Amino acid sequence: MRTLITDISLLHQVEYATDAPRTRVAGADMATVPMLENAWLLTENGLIHSFGTMADMPDMHADETIDATGRMVLPAWCDSHTHTVYAAPRDGEFVDRIKGISYEEIARRGGGILNSARKLNTMSEDELYEQSLERLHKVMAQGTGAIEIKSGYGLCLEGELKMLRVIRRLRESVPIPVKASFLAAHAYPQEYKQNKEAYVDLIINTMLPAVAAEGLADYMDVFCEEGFFGVPETERLLEAGWKYGLKPKIHANQLHYSGGVQTGVKHNALSVDHLECVGDAEIAALMGSSTMPVLLPGAAFFLGIQYQPARRIIDAGLPVCLASDHNPGSCPSGNVPLLLTIACTQLKMTPEEAVNAVTINGAAAMELEREMGSIRPGKRANLILTNKMHSLAYIPYDHGNNPVYRHII
Ligand code: NIG
Ligand code: FE
Repeated sequence: MRTLITDISLLHQVEYATDAPRTRVAGADMATVPMLENAWLLTENGLIHSFGTMADMPDMHADETIDATGRMVLPAWCDSHTHTVYAAPRDGEFVDRIKGISYEEIARRGGGILNSARKLNTMSEDELYEQSLERLHKVMAQGTGAIEIKSGYGLCLEGELKMLRVIRRLRESVPIPVKASFLAAHAYPQEYKQNKEAYVDLIINTMLPAVAAEGLADYMDVFCEEGFFGVPETERLLEAGWKYGLKPKIHANQLHYSGGVQTGVKHNALSVDHLECVGDAEIAALMGSSTMPVLLPGAAFFLGIQYQPARRIIDAGLPVCLASDHNPGSCPSGNVPLLLTIACTQLKMTPEEAVNAVTINGAAAMELEREMGSIRPGKRANLILTNKMHSLAYIPYDHGNNPVYRHII
């Protein structure tokens, strides 16, 4: 099956087969998104075959031809941090927060993640799957072409396995890559609040072996945060994950300078995510490491807390990745175009930086950089064909609206 897209007004994030493969973009390089004007692109059997400018378009056969006059084509978004599998919304807590009760206080009172766990543990796997599939289709229509999804609302063996099995079923049901992270260390269940070590033991000795035996997870996640999992617990959990081949990909420094960034880097995390609290020590730890800083400004927006210092991180020469954090508590939206707007208006990222952060860097943050994240021959033809628009900046500018005309997969 060959699809030919012609007369594309702007083809973004191009990379030629002869170029050294781009694996991630950092620092000042984030300001540029390589592009071609007035271009064509040919896909073959689900892969990008070739592209070029209309002036030099060779004669070719295609099964389908799409006229993209006035439209742009980009690689689909790579959303590397989500909790898209959950049982129920938490709009009651949203109202509580408006009235002044903090996210942490809600958690201390047994709400928040524990509220989600109670609901998830009484829901059937089939119902959880159906709900989650609907959410996944919604974000795919907004241009998400690869996604990572976490467990972490089970907080017991059966609940965590149920979530991870749902993620596996989702992977089998949609044509986009879906990665799974094991996040039993998301919160302490009520019955372990007085004996936290026993819950960490349960994760390490019972849950991890079961998850690994079924091959259900790609990554090991921990909510490393004051009031949740401290540095010593996080270290034990990450070491245990590595024994089963699960690379760390952790929640760090959302609410406090928790030491999570340094701990993630020390344990060779693929990414450290959230990063509202980042200072010189965190930046120094990230410099020279291969750990990707992943910013989740949608959660900071929705919780009304401080934003991540994206400029400081980029200006230090580091890469920045953006992800949605789609979850029922701190960010009920998995809408990447909206995320781009927040990154531009609140984090002062340029549209080019934001697009790099959620394409090639998003792919890198889930080890998909060889198949996703740029327009390169041989990569997946997983593409966004936009509505009629004339610049990359128009996507975050046109906030609240979906730029996607068609998601070509
Ligand atoms: O990434 N910070 C921890 N976990 C999620 C939120 C989970 C929830 O509130 O349900 C996050 O923001
Ligand atoms: Fe999260």
